[in-house]
Amino acid sequence: MTEQWQQDIAGWIGGKELLQASLSQPKRKDGTTAPKTIIRPIEMKNGLFYQFEYHFANKVTHDNLAAPEAGERMIALLQDHYRQALIKTSEADVQLLFNKKGKAAILKKPPTGDAQKSVQQHNRQKQRVLAEGKAAPFLVELGIMTPEGLVHAKKQDKYKQINRFLEMVTDVLAYLPKDKELTIVDFGCGKSYLTFALYHLLAIEQQRNIRIIGLDLKADVIAFCSELSEKLGYDKLKFLVGDIADYEELHEADMVVTLHACDTATDAALAKAVNWGASVIMSVPCCQHELFKQVSNDVLAPLLSQGLLKERFSALATDAARGTLLEVLGYKVQMLEFVDPEHTPKNLLIRAVRSEEQKPSLKKWEQYKQFRQFLSISPSLEHMLEGRWPASISE
Ligand SMILES: C[S@@+](CC[C@H](N)C(=O)[O-])C[C@H]1O[C@@H](n2cnc3c(N)ncnc32)[C@H](O)[C@@H]1O
Repeated sequence: MTEQWQQDIAGWIGGKELLQASLSQPKRKDGTTAPKTIIRPIEMKNGLFYQFEYHFANKVTHDNLAAPEAGERMIALLQDHYRQALIKTSEADVQLLFNKKGKAAILKKPPTGDAQKSVQQHNRQKQRVLAEGKAAPFLVELGIMTPEGLVHAKKQDKYKQINRFLEMVTDVLAYLPKDKELTIVDFGCGKSYLTFALYHLLAIEQQRNIRIIGLDLKADVIAFCSELSEKLGYDKLKFLVGDIADYEELHEADMVVTLHACDTATDAALAKAVNWGASVIMSVPCCQHELFKQVSNDVLAPLLSQGLLKERFSALATDAARGTLLEVLGYKVQMLEFVDPEHTPKNLLIRAVRSEEQKPSLKKWEQYKQFRQFLSISPSLEHMLEGRWPASISE
């Protein structure tokens, strides 16, 4: 079992709070352990590292490690080699004392001068929704965190993406209905890192009354997710095999998530969300091929005659059309930058929220029609939602 002091170290390293640590009173006096080891953060060209300075009797050696290895090394040194650590963090001065059985006593005092100076700076740093140092079981199971709460070096990007997604969700929670069980659907959930994250945040951390359904075409991925959900005891997180367009099991949903569902699969998901009256829609489109074959305008020849430019423009036009159509129906829409761990251009998130007082917009419909005509396009979402356009504003 992970002890409190180990969790603290993981949290300080992960949260960039460690200012200095001095490990002393080696267990072995045979010269194999440096009598003292100092650890301090150093900013290098490729990011933040922790320098381990081993003070032997007649030499000093160094080692620079990034998180989470730095946390693992510090924990291992204290487990096997030292009896005492004096640690300065931005939050406290901490003394760890280990008895002969290896049991730790932890003494914490308010931070001293130097430490306090950096508190202000530290406080400016945004607290992540899933903080390092506090192992979330689903992140451990998905191989993102160690059981001590340290993020694996290779999974830092995924970890950031998950946190970014949860921040974006947190910002719009107020739009979800209260006093009822919330139904959330994740279309094209894939391996479901973000679906598990959503469940963890809402059902476990915030104790909200929710159920989540993840849907994907791939049976093997759904089997993996179902097994993991069961193992974690997430009894209201269910996974189903199926095509978004054919999914008919619900009549309403409060939130629809669709992240990286290809091409018009995103439109199918958006159309379902609208028809179910979803209050919140989070969508990261990808592979927007549909309009590439349609878009045409002589004025735009310099843009459309280059394949790469045309591809990017078509993708943007697809999402502009989607966003505007949602606005026509009374949604408030924001286009946000989403972190993609693969650093692909698939980093646009459409966030749409619906509040009761918002009305369909004739002005947006006029804008949309001009846009569609100017580009000679015929986006799927408009057709999928045929009949949704109020008679007074349809052509
Ligand atoms: C790139 S993965 C994204 C997975 C996850 N949403 C994420 O962002 O990490 C896209 C997933 O969408 C699924 N998908 C694509 N078209 C679909 C459709 N029409 N119905 C259901 N799932 C679909 C694929 O099987 C794949 O697992």
